[in-house]
Amino acid sequence: MEETDSGAEPAIDWDSMTFSFTETDRMYIAKCKQGEDWQAGIMQDFQELRLSPAAGVINYGQGLFEGMKARRAEDGRVLLFRPELNARRAQGGSRRLGMAVVSEEMFLDAVHQVVQENIRWLPPNGRGELYIRPLIFGSGAILGVAPAPEYTFLVYAVPVGLYFKGGMNPIALKVSNEFHRAAPGGSGGVKAIGNYAPGMMPSKNAKAEGYAEIIYLDAVHHRYVEEVGAANFFCVKDNVLYTPELTGTILPGITRLSTIELARSLGYQVLETKVDIEFAMGADEAFCAGTAAVISPIGSIEHGGNVATYCDGEVGAVTKQLYDALTAIQEGRAPDPFGWTPSV
Ligand code: PLP
Ligand code: COI
Repeated sequence: MEETDSGAEPAIDWDSMTFSFTETDRMYIAKCKQGEDWQAGIMQDFQELRLSPAAGVINYGQGLFEGMKARRAEDGRVLLFRPELNARRAQGGSRRLGMAVVSEEMFLDAVHQVVQENIRWLPPNGRGELYIRPLIFGSGAILGVAPAPEYTFLVYAVPVGLYFKGGMNPIALKVSNEFHRAAPGGSGGVKAIGNYAPGMMPSKNAKAEGYAEIIYLDAVHHRYVEEVGAANFFCVKDNVLYTPELTGTILPGITRLSTIELARSLGYQVLETKVDIEFAMGADEAFCAGTAAVISPIGSIEHGGNVATYCDGEVGAVTKQLYDALTAIQEGRAPDPFGWTPSV
């Protein structure tokens, strides 16, 4: 993807994009010494970082990330999706990890600048999204296990296609009987970078067996559904939606919240509760929800040698209705009565 003229169309085939890294033009960076205010952030060319080998983030995983998307509407507007919720979630995560907190205003300003200065990487309407990746991490050197003396707030962006190959083709998932993602009192409820590496091998192994991802059960009873890799879980039984309640071990997904609000506005009852895996296996429909995954229908779940198949491998009617309603708002094809899609 060689491109030097920053005004030109990038040499990228929008229709064959996957959810993978492409280097774009510009990134935002700001720094903050512990106990002081953030220095003014600057936009700079996308570049590698200089970090002390003793930086808190690479020694002790003191860092978090966010994930959000900008989309090009048919009428040319560039739409974000509830970016203030990413800003607030990052604030909660920074507090949990003992890091400097980025104000909502600074976070949103950085996101807007990164979209504007990488606008040529924003795919045409309906052909993908610009995925925005804010990072906050301990960049100062520290040897003891303690909060780093300096923090970096960085935002970059990458054009992306589908997270799960096949898009609305229902995916096959497998319950992990060996691994858990998070325990009560841990960091599962924030987007800590350290939550992700332990899931890589389980996920890779499941993919090698032909599954799209892992479903994690709770670490205490090994019975209640937590999450699907990097997305939240929903199932539908007798037209009622069920999704795992927020107890601190799962990520409070923005797509999860939006799906709940949207479903309620469409007249569905939605229960945030403990979702027993046996109940989920007997549900009528299941899907997962996340920024990268959007709403992805689940076709089957394997658990302890049993396989539950939903809707004969077709997309369930409720899943389809919610997918259509959510993406129509996100892409600016439908009115946005909730005010979820500010333009850049
Ligand atoms: N759960 C995990 C572990 C995630 O990493 C994500 C992705 O952000 C989600 C759920 C979905 O959250 P959101 O809808 O805010 O993207
Ligand atoms: C997201 O949906 O934004 C995620 O963070 C998922 C994943 C790529 C980690």
